[in-house]
Amino acid sequence: MHCVKKVTEDITWVGANDRRLAMFEGVYSVPDGVSYNAYLLLDEKTVLFDTVDKAVRHRYLENIAATLGDRKLDYLIVQHMEPDHTAEISSLVCLYPGMKIVCNAKTIAMMKQFYDFDIDSIAHIVTEGDTLDTGNHTLHFIMAPMVHWPEVMVTYDSAKKTLFSADAFGCFGALNGALFADEVDFDKDYLDELRRYYANIVGKYGTQVQSLLTKVSALEIEMICPLHGFVWRKDLSHVISKYALWSKYEPEENGVMIAYASVYGNTENTAEILAGKLRDDGIKTQMFDVSVTPASEIVSAAFRWSHLVFASTTYNAGIFVNMEALISDLTAHNIQNRTVAVIENGSWAPTSGGLIREQLGKCENMTILDNTLTITSALKTPQLPEVDAMAKSIAATFANASEQSPGEQTAAKNIDNAAMFKLSYGLFVLTAKDGDKDNGCIINTTLQVTSSPLRISIAVNKANFTHDMIVKTGVFNVSVLSESAPFSIFQQFGFHTGKDTDKFLECGYSDRANNGVRYVPIHTNAMISANVIDSYDYGSHTIFVADVTQASVLSKEPSVTYQYYFDHIKPKPQVSAAAKKGYVCKICGYVYEGEPLPEDFICPLCKHGAEDFEPL
Ligand code: FEO
Repeated sequence: MHCVKKVTEDITWVGANDRRLAMFEGVYSVPDGVSYNAYLLLDEKTVLFDTVDKAVRHRYLENIAATLGDRKLDYLIVQHMEPDHTAEISSLVCLYPGMKIVCNAKTIAMMKQFYDFDIDSIAHIVTEGDTLDTGNHTLHFIMAPMVHWPEVMVTYDSAKKTLFSADAFGCFGALNGALFADEVDFDKDYLDELRRYYANIVGKYGTQVQSLLTKVSALEIEMICPLHGFVWRKDLSHVISKYALWSKYEPEENGVMIAYASVYGNTENTAEILAGKLRDDGIKTQMFDVSVTPASEIVSAAFRWSHLVFASTTYNAGIFVNMEALISDLTAHNIQNRTVAVIENGSWAPTSGGLIREQLGKCENMTILDNTLTITSALKTPQLPEVDAMAKSIAATFANASEQSPGEQTAAKNIDNAAMFKLSYGLFVLTAKDGDKDNGCIINTTLQVTSSPLRISIAVNKANFTHDMIVKTGVFNVSVLSESAPFSIFQQFGFHTGKDTDKFLECGYSDRANNGVRYVPIHTNAMISANVIDSYDYGSHTIFVADVTQASVLSKEPSVTYQYYFDHIKPKPQVSAAAKKGYVCKICGYVYEGEPLPEDFICPLCKHGAEDFEPL
């Protein structure tokens, strides 16, 4: 039975998942499986983007047949010749006579190396900048050599602003029903696998990834469809900025990765004492036993952290075997631009430290701290000062460097901390965007939770449509209303639902923050963009905790407080003589006639509860 997912109205994901594969490419463990993505465009012409690994061929062929229906297949675009994406070309050639294979000249040569069918008679060869018109879509071909093989190309659909990105932006892990990255808690559950995929598959080719990023930066991209993992349709700058860092070999975070090889636990013991001392200095640490953790995870961590410590026992007069493999893997993946410290152990002739230094010394921009800490069998009390000294010399490099890693600096560049000073028990326009839909509502609870990382919380009534949009997208903006805000803004955003109307169209604001979400640029003194990292269900409301991604001060006007709103903005309720008994909403002025006011009453205009009503 076919199992497909709609990407857009006329593009369907026709790939498949493999959760039984032990080792991807024979070397990378994939405990959560892997997806082989393929996409089928049903335009005036039908176009299939890539095939899949032979392990999932049946599902793939069923998916294509079901999606095509009685249409024929006009084109197969082969963006990457690696067999996990081309195993089914021969099947398609047999099943869909008349199909043309769109690829570049390098791909043709490789295709002949792998397969036996007559490619020349059905090839449609493209080069950089060529286009293919399929009716309503125009596909532009962009060469991306060495991302991951020399023949790789990507395809840009200018009609839907979609980039079919081949291996770029791929991620390990099978798709568990969700096709889009915004449907999952990506950073919590998948960022490590995105990084592990990047570091191990294309990490060696940073320069080539940079070239591709430069080429696609000229394009307006609203969706990225890679060959593995999730489709990106929201917050594209998040994944692109990760690629920008990794491809320049810049660390994402300041902190120390400690990888150790220990036969009887004594090298491990030294590494742990060092880790404890670093933590005492407030430095983040992550430790790996190279005999236990697959090298691909440690290589990935090396792309994450700014500092690397290698601690290895000596083995056969060399580096312990797993550590030797790790060091070789790291140098093969071009790791560079890190600060390194080395610990060696050896009961009679310790040599591992010198050898590690020698190998890592060949990498570019590596700062290898001067003193190797040498232990002979086990660390003894008199040597504790040496561990102290190593911790101090590592800490000193943090003190001398900027407090933030390049990754953290990129995020910080867009943040003006002064925007936080505008928060009060005030009133805010909370805005969100889901696809083409913009919306906003009024809230009165925005709090700064922590300053490092910069985090805020908001409480949002579940009756608000904006609430549901934030649950879905995890992204929002807060515009801090100032004292000049007229009552009309509160009416605009607070007293009716945006489900069926466009509140922004009505008010004419069109400014968007970097996250693509609108904000209110006038009668406000600050705007804050944030990505949700956690949420808490409190019955009528959800509290969202979110990392600040952008913050700007918009004016010097004071923030409007609740009190100011009541005293100066909200019109005084006009109570008719006939309606003497009842309650008035303190927020919007809605009058509830009758007594008593039900405890669970929700204002039909502004969605505030009974606690915000007062007797007439
Ligand atoms: Fe998924 Fe380079 O292939």
